[in-house]
Amino acid sequence: MSKSVAKKIQAIRGMNDLLPSESPRWQFFEDKIRQLMKRYGFAEIRTPIVEQTALFARSIGEVTDIVEKEMYTFEDRNGDSLTLRPEGTASCVRAAMENGLLYNQTQRLWYQGPMFRHERPQKGRYRQFHQVGIEAYGFEGPDIDAEVILLSARLWKELGLMEHVTLELNSLGSSEARAAYRDKLVAYFEEHREVLDEDAKRRLTSNPLRILDSKNPAMAEVLDGAPRLLDNLDAPSQAHFEQLKAMLDAAGIAYVINPRLVRGLDYYSRTVFEWTTTALGSQGTVCAGGRYDGLVEQLGGKPTPGVGFAMGIERLILLLETLDLVPNEAGSDVYLLAMDDTATIAAITLAEQLRSELPWLRLQLHCGGGSFKSRMKKADKSGAAFALLLGEDEMNEHTVTLKALRDDQAQQRVPQAMLAHTLSEQLSQTP
Ligand code: HAM
Repeated sequence: MSKSVAKKIQAIRGMNDLLPSESPRWQFFEDKIRQLMKRYGFAEIRTPIVEQTALFARSIGEVTDIVEKEMYTFEDRNGDSLTLRPEGTASCVRAAMENGLLYNQTQRLWYQGPMFRHERPQKGRYRQFHQVGIEAYGFEGPDIDAEVILLSARLWKELGLMEHVTLELNSLGSSEARAAYRDKLVAYFEEHREVLDEDAKRRLTSNPLRILDSKNPAMAEVLDGAPRLLDNLDAPSQAHFEQLKAMLDAAGIAYVINPRLVRGLDYYSRTVFEWTTTALGSQGTVCAGGRYDGLVEQLGGKPTPGVGFAMGIERLILLLETLDLVPNEAGSDVYLLAMDDTATIAAITLAEQLRSELPWLRLQLHCGGGSFKSRMKKADKSGAAFALLLGEDEMNEHTVTLKALRDDQAQQRVPQAMLAHTLSEQLSQTP
């Protein structure tokens, strides 16, 4: 008789588990982000992971890679077309409008969470990935553009990444200026049609600016010779861009003007930027964003300027790991163990008492029995600095044995009444 072996179900390609060995790095990063957002006066917003498909189609643009090829779109049981969010800006605008947050007021918002794009998975590119994003509404001038960029720059500085990233900057001007430029660009590319690849030919009618983004070396020369959007800006956009550059100069933030930076989403106007690194291979953009002054109106709201960015958390953590910049944090301070089963109840009581007395203490209680030797092995594996041992003698004396696990300090018996004090001293914290 053959036994059938149940087939194991695996995770979806490009969607990763975050394992306990990795989560401290994410928590470290997320803690930094929370602090930073508070320091710059941004408030958190959380929106649903699923939205109506039309929201993304109308904001990101029908002829973008995201909307054409990458969205996880499905019909729900009512027959409505829904989509797992591929990014956060559209949802943020929708939520802000729907909840009256844009009514005669400015907003500085931030969010974080999973996004979904059906791209070809590779290092730094996943189908479920995580972004931290910020969006500011109601500010017309370039001061907020500078503020948004400075917030990201401060994060790089504090993570030790500043010298490993480059700020690329461009302006896309007003939609009118862009339409006029688009005609010029199409005329130029028509003249060089024979050099264009299939993708570029297709984009010539649908989204010609995106041709500038092509990495095809065969088109490099014709791209170099193309008219530049920066030379065709409307006067107010030109002034906005000059002021932004002056603000960044004054703040000591270096940037590179990249006239070919057009971004893959259609909602941008004026300022666009990307922070890139060469340390991650082809997926080197760690943070990207810009201004989108027309989007709120396009989605049915009153004209309201917007600007923001999103950073890819996986890419940033990869970068920190590549550069060996992740702090190494042990999981616990103390591992408390009963030397045998008779002391289990006393150990549980003592653990709870210590947790009440020292709320900052990271204490792991041994569970699951085993020989003394195996208990000590687990103590060592926990990464804790100290083991606290409780046996018959200790129980009779109301003491506990304190044993250093990371250096050869002599072990000592400490009266239980003194334990909180001793641990505070040893771990150099105040109770
Ligand atoms: P985006 O350029 O599409 O912009 O994505 C922003 C960042 O998310 C990228 O620079 C990258 O770090 C990360 N990212 C994107 N796709 C993936 C992926 N498949 N795997 C891993 N990481 C990825 C936006 O999403 C805009 N909403 C940004 C924005 C906010 N603009 C204004 N406000």
